[in-house]
Amino acid sequence: MPQLPLQLLLLLAPLGPLSPRALPRASRALDGLRFLTTQPLHLLSPAFLSFTIDANLATDPRFLTFLGSPKLRTLARGLLCCLGFQSSLCANRFSNWSLPLADICKSGSIPPHVHKKLELEWLFQEQWLLREQYQKNFKNTTYSRSSVDMLYTFANCSGLDLIFGLNALLRTADLQWNSSNAQLLLDYCSSKNYNISWELGNEPNSFQKKAGIFIDGLQLGEDFIELHKLLRKSTYKHAKLYGPDVGQPRGKTVKMLKSDPPTSASQSGLDAVNVQRCDWSACSRLSCCQVVQETRPSKKVWLGETSSAYGGGAPLLSNTFAAGFMWLDKLGLSARMGIEVVMRQVFFGAGNYHLVDENFEPLPDYWLSLLFKKLVGTRVLMASVKGGAGRKLRVYLHCTNINQRQYKEGDLTLYAINLHNVTKHLQLPYYLFNKQVDKYVVKPSGPDGLLSKSVQLNGQTLRMVDDQTLPTLTEKSLRPGSSLGLPAFSYGFFVIRNAKVAACT
Ligand SMILES: *[C@@H]1O[C@H](CO)[C@@H](O)[C@H](O)[C@H]1NC(C)=O
Ligand SMILES: *[C@@H]1O[C@H](CO)[C@@H](O)[C@H](O)[C@H]1NC(C)=O
Ligand SMILES: *[C@@H]1O[C@H](CO)[C@@H](O)[C@H](O)[C@H]1NC(C)=O
Ligand SMILES: *[C@@H]1O[C@H](CO)[C@@H](O)[C@H](O)[C@H]1NC(C)=O
Ligand SMILES: *[C@@H]1O[C@H](CO)[C@@H](O)[C@H](O)[C@H]1NC(C)=O
Ligand SMILES: *[C@@H]1O[C@H](CO)[C@@H](O)[C@H](O)[C@H]1NC(C)=O
Repeated sequence: MPQLPLQLLLLLAPLGPLSPRALPRASRALDGLRFLTTQPLHLLSPAFLSFTIDANLATDPRFLTFLGSPKLRTLARGLLCCLGFQSSLCANRFSNWSLPLADICKSGSIPPHVHKKLELEWLFQEQWLLREQYQKNFKNTTYSRSSVDMLYTFANCSGLDLIFGLNALLRTADLQWNSSNAQLLLDYCSSKNYNISWELGNEPNSFQKKAGIFIDGLQLGEDFIELHKLLRKSTYKHAKLYGPDVGQPRGKTVKMLKSDPPTSASQSGLDAVNVQRCDWSACSRLSCCQVVQETRPSKKVWLGETSSAYGGGAPLLSNTFAAGFMWLDKLGLSARMGIEVVMRQVFFGAGNYHLVDENFEPLPDYWLSLLFKKLVGTRVLMASVKGGAGRKLRVYLHCTNINQRQYKEGDLTLYAINLHNVTKHLQLPYYLFNKQVDKYVVKPSGPDGLLSKSVQLNGQTLRMVDDQTLPTLTEKSLRPGSSLGLPAFSYGFFVIRNAKVAACT
């Protein structure tokens, strides 16, 4: 079922500071929902929603001290997932030197005056980085042992799994991957007992544009086998191995190939034979290889396919409430397509598409991601709006995430996007009419309307309680039998309690 890209719809829709309250009264028409719950369409990774820290934060190791911020760690801990570190922008190289930097796991805090100073400098650094990106000046930079330490500490202290994206741009004269730098890094991480998963390369399809190197699928496969060999010889024998990220030839989405299923414990990483047989360019069809990751979704959406390899998101849009429509739709579509992991670029760092801004304040997409983590489970089901009116009204259905104990096996989570300028009333299928439903409706908060940088959940503005405490995401229970109201230009989650759906048990 081809859908009109949401970004197009949104560009057509009024994006101005529009107050949903000023809109006319809701139409009473009900939109009936159809659910297909006989069996899960797909099973996603528990790390389905993951995020990255871009290597550009490490261009100057001082800025990595930001990762010592207790507030940033609290925010990261909330998302409990995978953290990818991707050297996408420059030819990053690991260097075996070290700065005398204290371990920041326990102490956590950076002295306030140091932080203030760094924050100021970061503003300039960020401008510089973005300018460099737009001008396509890719510099060879190095990061040190201390940078790796800080990154690892951040991940480990925040309870995140770290996936380290090795630089695939380091090549020999005949364009083979030169693994000597990776070896150096592996040795170092191994000596520190760091538990890390690995990935090779980031968007190899854009190498040519970025670095003037053309690498075909066959070569990438060989490089991958080389990395697999290195890992087998190291303490990372059983580490997870991801990659390469393969951008589709037509640039529709950026995808990556994953290791063999976790069940085959004997062998970590991609099966070498499979790699050789795999035609990387055919992976857009999900057919020969297992496509599991899409990088930088927000950027894709906003900047279109080719330009999207650069830049830091759309200024004034990507960090606002409006971006949430695309982000949620992306998550929903990716899940429905069976993409196992979606890596959000970036958690924190230069650009406009980050989840947390330079003052460590969570942005609307952060709160959306947090809700998604809390409510959406890994089993993907199917929902649609009767009559196919699904362009401006989009619905997705999963089994509920039961890990946070609030919900039970068999419960359902519906998430929905309403781009209509009137409230929509969704009606559950008949057999679920009398179930109790918890709603989590998200709207912009404050006078900036869709361009707001803060959001309200069920009418309450979301903000951190303090640097160590995230707010409780509180549901509002609907009376059994009521329709699910979704205001104009909003999105929301609805947990259908006690649904007793067999596919979710
Ligand atoms: C890296 O640095 C450590 C500590 O200074 C040293 O022991 C080790 O030999 C160095 N490794 C290489 C490959 O230079
Ligand atoms: C980066 O390093 C590579 C190989 O070491 C070299 O060929 C390339 O010219 C360098 N690029 C820049 C921008 O310095
Ligand atoms: C690989 O890179 C290392 C370090 O930059 C260099 O010393 C070595 O000669 C390179 N190997 C090849 C085969 O190019
Ligand atoms: C990571 O954190 C855990 C506790 O959360 C700790 O037991 C472990 O030693 C840490 N690993 C490293 C390599 O620091
Ligand atoms: C390393 O991390 C992975 C992923 O979280 C975990 O499954 C594994 O048990 C960890 N290994 C060790 C030795 O801690
Ligand atoms: C709502 O959208 C319809 C067309 O989709 C338009 O005719 C109507 O004027 C809009 N109402 C408001 C209040 O924007």
